[in-house]
Amino acid sequence: MGTVTVVDHPLVQHKLSIMRDKETSTASFRRLLREISLLLGYEVTRNLELTTKTIETPLTKMEAPVLEGKKLVFASVLRAGNGLLEGLLDLVPAARVAHIGLYRDHDTLEAVEYFFKAPSDLADRLVIVVDPMLATANSAISAINMLKGRGATHLRFLCLLAAPEGVKRFTEAHPDVPVFTAAIDDHLNEKGYIVPGLGDAGDRMYGTK
Ligand code: PRP
Ligand code: URA
Repeated sequence: MGTVTVVDHPLVQHKLSIMRDKETSTASFRRLLREISLLLGYEVTRNLELTTKTIETPLTKMEAPVLEGKKLVFASVLRAGNGLLEGLLDLVPAARVAHIGLYRDHDTLEAVEYFFKAPSDLADRLVIVVDPMLATANSAISAINMLKGRGATHLRFLCLLAAPEGVKRFTEAHPDVPVFTAAIDDHLNEKGYIVPGLGDAGDRMYGTK
């Protein structure tokens, strides 16, 4: 079974509660998702490896810690992943970006692929896949399959809200991919929505519906 980290920081939980509220406006929802992504990003990057580099401060030389290895990749599952992506890029501006176009077929709840663009050297990089919602996990499992199929071996999955059913399916399908989330909710309803949840993340971000 893969590892699942619930980021229970009070600021994350407070912002998430505002996002869940159906009265929260599109503008506030987007701003909160960006703010929360900074806090989640702090956790998902917590154990990145460091090396040292010799620098000179105004006073002396020192061996200063810097990130080791190639620039990491944020892989955004469209559309709603872009809400997390923006904040994460504020945190790690030099990161590379992959875009994975997937939507859920409303009847079957299967993920349908419509776009994929990623750096070619995925095998050498840590890939952090971002999507606010892990419901049935069909989208997340497909996104990871696509990335692994293009060579990625070192992956993490970051979301805002997960359903227990989705966490189980995802960790069984990809036990090597750690999951980070702000909350694991109660259940999925018959239409595949997370309950209590926050509704359709893409619609709430972009004011569609
Ligand atoms: C939402 C969400 C995830 C997916 C999760 O996207 O952003 O990608 O549903 O559900 P699953 O775990 O059951 O696959 P949606 O398909 O609604 O597309 P959108 O972001 O373009 O609205
Ligand atoms: N996708 C969403 O945006 N919300 C859910 O509750 C489930 C899937």
